[in-house]
Amino acid sequence: MNEPLALPRLVFIDREPASATFADEVRDGLAAMPKRLSPKWFYDTLGSRLFDAICALPAYYPTRLEMALFARHGEAMAACAGTGRVLVELGSGAGEKVRHLLPHLEAAAYVAVDISRDALLSAARSQAEETPLLPVFAVCDDFASGLELPAAIPDGPRLYFYPGSSIGNFTPDEAIALLSPLATPGCGLLIGVDLIKDVAVMEMAYDDPLGVTAAFNRNLLVRMNRELGGNFDLPRFRHLARFDAGHGRIEMHLESGVAQDVKVAGRVFHFGAGERLHTESSYKYRLDDFTALALKAGWRRRGCWTDADGWFAELYFEA
Ligand code: AVJ
Repeated sequence: MNEPLALPRLVFIDREPASATFADEVRDGLAAMPKRLSPKWFYDTLGSRLFDAICALPAYYPTRLEMALFARHGEAMAACAGTGRVLVELGSGAGEKVRHLLPHLEAAAYVAVDISRDALLSAARSQAEETPLLPVFAVCDDFASGLELPAAIPDGPRLYFYPGSSIGNFTPDEAIALLSPLATPGCGLLIGVDLIKDVAVMEMAYDDPLGVTAAFNRNLLVRMNRELGGNFDLPRFRHLARFDAGHGRIEMHLESGVAQDVKVAGRVFHFGAGERLHTESSYKYRLDDFTALALKAGWRRRGCWTDADGWFAELYFEA
């Protein structure tokens, strides 16, 4: 038996943030009032695996609902988005979601962008093997302050794919700043948005009974200890997740149980008893509000798919 010969095509472009960048942001963030750190630092190798575990939790509804939307409406989404485009996925992670769309899209190329090098590489490798005729580009990059794709990426109309409600990690103004430059003629945006719902449901998703999200949050301390010579004592910090109705966002914090000094990244930082380190904001939207936000960024809504309870939405926009 002769199999047609097709070698997987995978190009890896490594712009992983340097550890000096992490150190700088930790020094700035821990000196700030209130103390803060960007959620992008969650995703070291263990952090990415803990996030995958979160996605499998009964309490964490976004992944489950979004996957069901892809299974049920993937074909309609692809029909709406059109074929032959360069598919650019932001925060591709384990690469599970794109599998539902690729078979319908006839993409000219697939570009996976993620800050987590290990997760990105293993996902891109399996994707390239599964679809040997599709050029796959893996770009390890932090796009929080703007997506700049390397010159090696083919030109042509792009379909940006930003699933999971990761857009929620940005404030509405930051989200507009991120999405605006992408809105060039002929481009599309398929994006997952988590919708405002019962507060108990949202808080349970970020403070699950198994404690996986707590481990995900506290892993930041483990990472700072390992990579930046820190001496955080884990039992002295607890995980907090609360919905802030004023901002329309879930906030995650690490709360110091006692007054203590911690050494990290060559400095000493004081934590008061009960003082918090803000590690993540996850904005939730009403459908109309997100549609208006996208319009401000130059995107017009063309498609909308939600679950029966209206908890999560997948939206398609055109520039
Ligand atoms: C990857 C940003 C979509 O905000 O729901 C999950 C990250 N944090 N549980 C989210 C997360 C805690 C997640 N995003």
